[in-house]
Amino acid sequence: MAQARVGVVGVGTFGINHLRCFRQLGYWGVAKLVAACDVNEPVLEERRQEFEFNPYTSVEEMLNNEQLDAITVVTPDPLHKDIVLAGAEAGVHILSEKPLDVTVDGCQEMIDACERAGVLLMVDFHKRYDEYHIAMKQKIDAGDLGKIQYGFCHMEDKIVVPRDWFPNWAPNSSSAWFLGIHFVDLTRFLMSGANGTEVWASGMKGKLASLGVDTYDAVTFMVKFDNGASVVYNTAWHLPDGFEAVVNQGIRLVGTDGLLECDSQDRGTITCCAGDSPGMQSHNKSFLREKYDKQGRQIFEGYGMDSIADFAYNVNVLLDGGTIADLGDFPSGEDGLQATKIIAAVHESVDTGKLVQL
Ligand SMILES: NC(=O)c1ccc[n+]([C@@H]2O[C@H](COP(=O)([O-])OP(=O)(O)OC[C@H]3O[C@@H](n4cnc5c(N)ncnc54)[C@H](O)[C@@H]3O)[C@@H](O)[C@H]2O)c1
Repeated sequence: MAQARVGVVGVGTFGINHLRCFRQLGYWGVAKLVAACDVNEPVLEERRQEFEFNPYTSVEEMLNNEQLDAITVVTPDPLHKDIVLAGAEAGVHILSEKPLDVTVDGCQEMIDACERAGVLLMVDFHKRYDEYHIAMKQKIDAGDLGKIQYGFCHMEDKIVVPRDWFPNWAPNSSSAWFLGIHFVDLTRFLMSGANGTEVWASGMKGKLASLGVDTYDAVTFMVKFDNGASVVYNTAWHLPDGFEAVVNQGIRLVGTDGLLECDSQDRGTITCCAGDSPGMQSHNKSFLREKYDKQGRQIFEGYGMDSIADFAYNVNVLLDGGTIADLGDFPSGEDGLQATKIIAAVHESVDTGKLVQL
């Protein structure tokens, strides 16, 4: 089997998970982490020492100098597009972090460029890879719920995320863009790719703005889908420092014949209190589990790895002569566009106070 040669663009807070994934895929002969790029040189050097790759501060230079098969894009949300376009131009396959872009036109431009170049475009919507969500999908596909009529999702981060992790670009994002988009994609996945037809939303500002980070604390929205279902999403990223986890999330869907509920906060994960932790904290071990292999090497498992690894496996199929049609289901550029369409409409509704038709 081919072994995809990969470059990672953006090695900040979340980029480390991409580096972890390709490093361990290298142990198993699935992919090779060749290069990485970041405009922040100290961060790049810190990561290079831990993960061993050829470092670059320019994407173009990395694409010109290295024989890459694929890149992954883990830069701030508004900066995915130009890197994806450069990757398509260079003929490499691309995995972009969510959201694909913060504009619908931008998503379409990226899709068109990748189609023209004949390269794969995937979006890292990893909620689809969570084993509990896959179990939900199996039940829905088996008809256990009948026709889905309504649902409720919540995803909330602790305030540390926008306040301390990326206060510089949090004002260009929101809890709807950063968190809500995950559950929009998940509901589309669970409802066989249903698309949004109407959106109503309301945004609340206060806490973060008072700390100098000018963004909404919370955005609540309702989406009507073309399968007839209406789903409400509560998103926020100002949960107090004392909250028992970085993320609080869950979903429930109700149909004519049944209901499904998955509370990701309460599924037998470990709790821990250490250091200056304000109390017992729960950890989402379905997302990331740290282990050590027989050689004593650090390995990560969980859906946070599976979605990135799926990209490498897909690239290998293509390198071995397969086509994109051979890859089966994966979060595609089109899925990225449909999710962005909904969140862009959410913000239009927040700004205008009106219902937005899609
Ligand atoms: N899938 C998930 O659950 C998940 C979780 C967190 C973040 N994300 C996404 O990952 C992306 C990055 O988020 P983060 O929290 O790591 O942000 P971050 O700010 O910690 O890291 C972004 C990195 O990109 C670098 N960068 C900026 N412009 C660049 C450029 N032109 N070329 C190369 N590097 C550049 C920055 O220097 C920084 O190191 C965002 O799109 C975010 O929404 C996804």
